[in-house]
Amino acid sequence: MPIQYDETRRMFRLDTDHTSYVIAITEAGYAAHLYYGKRVSHFPDAKLLRQDEYPAPDVLPREKLTYLNALPFEYPTDGVGDFRPGALGVRNAKGQPGCELFYASHAVTEGKEGLPGLPASFPGEEQGVETLSLVLADPALCLTVTLLYSVFPKEDVITRSVMVRNDGKTPLVLEKVLSASLDMDDRNYEAISLDGNWARERHICRRPVGFGQTTVRSIRGESSHQENPFLALCTPDTNEEQGEVYGLLLMYSGNHIESAEKNQFGFMRLSSGIHPDGFSWNLGPGETFAAPEVICTYSGEGLGRMTRNYHDFIRGHVIRSPWKKKPRPVLINNWEATYFDFDGEKIYALAKEAKQFGIEMLVLDDGWFGHRNDDNSSLGDWKVNESKIGSLAELSQKIHGLGMKFGLWFEPEMISVDSDLYRAHPDWALQVEGRTPTLSRNQLVLDLSRKEVRDTVYGEIHAVLQNAGIDYIKWDMNRNLTNIGGIGTGREGQTELLHRYVLGVYEMQERLITDFPDLLLENCSGGGARFDAGMLYYSPQIWCSDDTDAIERLRIQEGTALVYPMSAMGAHVSKCPNEQIGRTTPFDTRANVALAGTFGYELNLADLPEEDRKKIPEQVERYHRYHALIADGDYYRLHTWTDAEPYDCWMNAAKDGSEALVTYVQVLGRPSTNSAKVFLRGLLPDARYEIQEECGTKAVQEYGSFQPLTEGWGDVLMNAGFPVPALGDFQSRLYALRKI
Ligand code: GLA
Repeated sequence: MPIQYDETRRMFRLDTDHTSYVIAITEAGYAAHLYYGKRVSHFPDAKLLRQDEYPAPDVLPREKLTYLNALPFEYPTDGVGDFRPGALGVRNAKGQPGCELFYASHAVTEGKEGLPGLPASFPGEEQGVETLSLVLADPALCLTVTLLYSVFPKEDVITRSVMVRNDGKTPLVLEKVLSASLDMDDRNYEAISLDGNWARERHICRRPVGFGQTTVRSIRGESSHQENPFLALCTPDTNEEQGEVYGLLLMYSGNHIESAEKNQFGFMRLSSGIHPDGFSWNLGPGETFAAPEVICTYSGEGLGRMTRNYHDFIRGHVIRSPWKKKPRPVLINNWEATYFDFDGEKIYALAKEAKQFGIEMLVLDDGWFGHRNDDNSSLGDWKVNESKIGSLAELSQKIHGLGMKFGLWFEPEMISVDSDLYRAHPDWALQVEGRTPTLSRNQLVLDLSRKEVRDTVYGEIHAVLQNAGIDYIKWDMNRNLTNIGGIGTGREGQTELLHRYVLGVYEMQERLITDFPDLLLENCSGGGARFDAGMLYYSPQIWCSDDTDAIERLRIQEGTALVYPMSAMGAHVSKCPNEQIGRTTPFDTRANVALAGTFGYELNLADLPEEDRKKIPEQVERYHRYHALIADGDYYRLHTWTDAEPYDCWMNAAKDGSEALVTYVQVLGRPSTNSAKVFLRGLLPDARYEIQEECGTKAVQEYGSFQPLTEGWGDVLMNAGFPVPALGDFQSRLYALRKI
């Protein structure tokens, strides 16, 4: 039983296969956090609770109590003497702050429910998932707070979310509702986050957590290029295979905060949820607010285990699309091939050419609608530009006639000032009256908190899909939110607008995949600004980055795959010199790196040298051969490139150890060095493997004596290593291992 309650101790123990989480109800009725970490088979003693620095609530009567600054809380509140960051801030009908929560009741149920209007993980095929609903109440506010914990034993995951209900007769204001808070003693923890910018998203960043607050956040209205909604704490000895790691991943696509605060007692509080800046929620009598889910995992076996927990969990319990188990059609996208400069014939010619090489889908990117020939106009006018491309239905028919699928780009959340939609409804853009709105990429953001706006835009998209027979959509979102005011919203609703906007996006995507259940949806936001678990609930894949350079992609994809599965990472082979960085890399290396994600092309095939063109059918075939292994197998980071050792290496191993694929990329070549030795993982120690070079660029010097290994024992390859010859700049190798 994953969830147990010990009535005499008033303790809950939540067990996954390798972890335990313990909650204690103190005598005073507080829900206290007792333990999270490696699995224990006994209930701890209540004396483990830290109550010593201040007179403890259970020692003194409430009226004699000073501060609540020492007790580890399951869900800390603001305004009553806990000076660490609270998870919940409430004001009563008079505007006075403060909230104090006491145990009211609990229930343990099988399975897991969804959350109203929000993405939420689900049990799927897994047996033994259980949910604890821990109900806390503040009698002074007539407020009920239900803490939800769902236990997924196999993946060592506990998800958390919170429902806040106003049971009184007067309105309340929620100023902050975080989704999870985790109190623990500090052990010199280091923080790991995924940071970056446009075209270099989600680089792994590790730093010590000092006194005060270490935060990851976005106030951009989306999860952002800059700081992904993920934070892990690890002990300083942590590497891929050892060390203790706590990961929090927020399943939400708007403003967020993840923070670790170390206080004067060497105490650590970790929390995650919607960023309170610009947020407050009016909770009328009888109303409930649901906070998004946080996916928590603990690994006692380093970062590698954390990664594999998240991959298994997201694949099994977050991504719903029927596409998740299916190989994705290898696509050609016209964006970097043509930008806005195309017509129907050019697109058809690109499809026809692609078809010859075995490419399976054409994606028509930005510029097919309104009068959009650059990025100054037409967002919001989802009407086919027939003078540019002719009939979309006919183009779609012709492409289908080639035996290919047909995909289309939309940017549903945006409005151009030069658009019929804006001319008809200028008030539909987010704006603050009397203030000139901030443009970004010449566009404004639609107020998707309004139903009529969502209905109109969705209606137009629906009509295009239905008329033209579209198999795939790239749902783009190319700017951050500013001037977050709504013309159709009253005074009190303005602070709810940002969250309602995110709920609006979720509602539209839910409608889309319900109405078109076979549609392959790929989310995108100026590259990877909304690569988060919330979006993965709706789309099985997300465009990882606008940076398609194979070398830049190493860091981007490594960071992304720290948490998110490879099957979700949009990755394409593009032209050289690369559009974003000007670098020229071998065609094979570009394909080997893109193979780590959902494989495709984004270039004009006609411009490629003949020797590269010839390789495409083999690359497409390779994607199909290895898709299941890469998408469903276990991922291991074997080496991250540094100045001293400028190569990158990772592998994907089948869960049963029967096969594996090793990708090695030499970022810079070095003279006079030995061949690199990589230590493989995920193999069966006693199995013998045949090793085949799948795809390789030329070595700088294959030294006369270098003899590639063609067979080896699992334990030898993992412990003694596997040698790779010295390669030059940007060269790469793929090695396939198969159990003999
Ligand atoms: C964004 C996307 C690109 C492309 C352009 C089109 O930048 O990330 O892939 O679709 O928009 O305008």
